[in-house]
Amino acid sequence: MINIFDLFKQSFDKYLDGYLKHVYSYQPLDDAYKYSILNGGKRIRPSLVFLGAYAVAPRNEFYNPEELVVELAVGIELIHSYSLVHDDLPCMDNDSLRRGKPTTHIKYGAGMATITGDAMLNGAAEEMLSALDNDFYMSCPFVKDNYKAQVNATKYILKCSGMNGMIGGQCLDIRENTKNPSKSDLIRMYKLKTSALLRGALVAGALRFEASEDIINAFEKFADNFGILFQIQDDILDLTSTREELGKDVHQDEANDKFTYIDAVGGIDQAKLDVMSYADEAKAAIKTIEGKINGAEYFYELIDNMIARKK
Ligand code: IPE
Ligand code: IPE
Ligand code: MG
Ligand code: MG
Ligand code: MG
Repeated sequence: MINIFDLFKQSFDKYLDGYLKHVYSYQPLDDAYKYSILNGGKRIRPSLVFLGAYAVAPRNEFYNPEELVVELAVGIELIHSYSLVHDDLPCMDNDSLRRGKPTTHIKYGAGMATITGDAMLNGAAEEMLSALDNDFYMSCPFVKDNYKAQVNATKYILKCSGMNGMIGGQCLDIRENTKNPSKSDLIRMYKLKTSALLRGALVAGALRFEASEDIINAFEKFADNFGILFQIQDDILDLTSTREELGKDVHQDEANDKFTYIDAVGGIDQAKLDVMSYADEAKAAIKTIEGKINGAEYFYELIDNMIARKK
């Protein structure tokens, strides 16, 4: 049986191919841009954009809500992929493998990888705002003010990606590296560097359909907890997985003297127990709005998939 997340990923990858056909620039930037986003990614953030839309939007024979959020989905995946290109640079985590392939700077050099990341961030903003030019999208009958909804969703994603979101988290990641952070310092960092983009994705999908405040609040709480458990899992996999299975270098946190959640709680066993309690918190947030959204079960399924993830 095909599950909804496979469908989301498949349709996203199709839209992404279409988008990239219209992207062109000077070489080797053009190649590096496409190389950095194509293949290997799990596409969790675009899937969350689709899930946010699916959860709150009605559908009819003319409108498939997921179609109205493809620009947001492409935008957030560009931002996420750029964050990985920069995260892997020699001046940051100094990684050589990403999504099963040599990292962008290994293939194209650090200078080219830096501007590729810059271009992806710029491309994301352009793509998300380009939806405003689509008359068909801008006349969706379920939305009172389509123009404003698209702008709000875009703003939300850019805010989550910025200095008080993912970039702020990367700042703490570099800064805390030099001292021994407490568990609460780490949670604050994980909420920013990892939860923020997941929150941006899910909430933007819902904002595009003018979701009510209680739904937005519940989605934010869900994504915050999801991000924390996702990052703890990432730290665990860095220790327990292999380069082949993970598609990225392992034991990198140790190599970079990174103090992770596992160090903070004294071992993998406790970290795994904590993953389960963040999972419960995430599910509890959706429980409060279960009757107001479509597909609450997909939120629970997503958490269960993430707990069991191997890459
Ligand atoms: C990796 O994110 C960076 C973290 C926040 C841990 P993903 O594990 O979602 O990476 P891709 O997109 O599937 O490569
Ligand atoms: C990444 O955290 C968070 C980002 C915002 C890119 P990590 O540095 O642990 O991610 P990986 O392990 O390199 O994917
Ligand atoms: Mg990092
Ligand atoms: Mg890294
Ligand atoms: Mg990691």
